[in-house]
Amino acid sequence: MIYKQKLKMLIGILIVLLISGCQSDISTNEENNNQDSIRIAILIYRFDDEFVSYVMEEIEKERELLDDLSNKQLVVDFIDGNNQSDLQLDQIKDSIENKYDVLAINLVDRSQAARVIDMAKNADIPIVFFNREPVQVDMARWDKIYYVGSKGEDAGRIQGEIIAETWNNNPRIDKNKDGILQYIMIQGQQGHQDALLRTEWSVKAIEANGIKVEQLVSDTANWQRQEAKEKMLNYLNVFSEEIEFIISNNDMMALGAVDAMKELEFEEYIPIVGVDAIDIAVNALERGELTGTVYNDHVKQGQMVIRMAYYLAINEDPKDYIDSIENGKYYRVEYQKVIKK
Ligand code: BGC
Ligand code: CA
Repeated sequence: MIYKQKLKMLIGILIVLLISGCQSDISTNEENNNQDSIRIAILIYRFDDEFVSYVMEEIEKERELLDDLSNKQLVVDFIDGNNQSDLQLDQIKDSIENKYDVLAINLVDRSQAARVIDMAKNADIPIVFFNREPVQVDMARWDKIYYVGSKGEDAGRIQGEIIAETWNNNPRIDKNKDGILQYIMIQGQQGHQDALLRTEWSVKAIEANGIKVEQLVSDTANWQRQEAKEKMLNYLNVFSEEIEFIISNNDMMALGAVDAMKELEFEEYIPIVGVDAIDIAVNALERGELTGTVYNDHVKQGQMVIRMAYYLAINEDPKDYIDSIENGKYYRVEYQKVIKK
């Protein structure tokens, strides 16, 4: 199935490149004759984010492929925002001054989107945002801006389903036998659309399955394993036997909770769910340390970021080449449930 899709996509690119190859030959005569390379700046919120580094790898793989197929050299520069919004805004300014053809931006602070869009618009440099979604009013500021990401509420919904199934199949999870599921929520970075949506929809989905819930605590660990471990060392002490489930907005923080349980030699079984299905989380799942996770398709996200950027760079409309772009601007990948086989 996946191979079929890949093959279909590859054939798609080949056709597109054949067509765009002819078209760009025509335009070469007009204006682009001094340009023998396409330059795309990829501005990342922080290089050491595990999931985002998966996306970066895919961008690079796809760059090689497009580069081989294209008649121009495709140059991609990754720039680390170090999780500092001011630094990233400077980097964006510099990239505009350096006349990159397109910017692909993983915002440190998505509330800065309007500023960024206006800067790029003035210089007529298109943007593909990804993973950190500007709000709709910002996305409406210009037509040459796109977004690649996933459907945050679906990840929450799938987590909720995994939790409901686990609860229904294992009566011993209800330690205090009150028929109510007591949980701890570990949230991603505040203000991140995925943190907000996953938190909200995971709980809604559990309740939609007819299960009563009680939140013991909900706290942020900024998507980070170490931070989650430190928070959980404390909460495991405070709530101890009361905890019946740990819901985490991503895998890294879920693994931080596992780390804390190991360090405290916590005896009680507590099911934990994450999101992303990164390799180390899937391994932990196989060992029984995690109960479930949700595949966040980094492959497709990476591919679509660079492909959209590529089409924009050669002055083509991505919508003419990529199916299922919603509202003229959004490409959203599907999540998939991952539990132990
Ligand atoms: C991922 C997290 C990641 C975050 C970064 C989310 O979609 O699930 O693992 O840390 O994006 O922005
Ligand atoms: Ca209970």
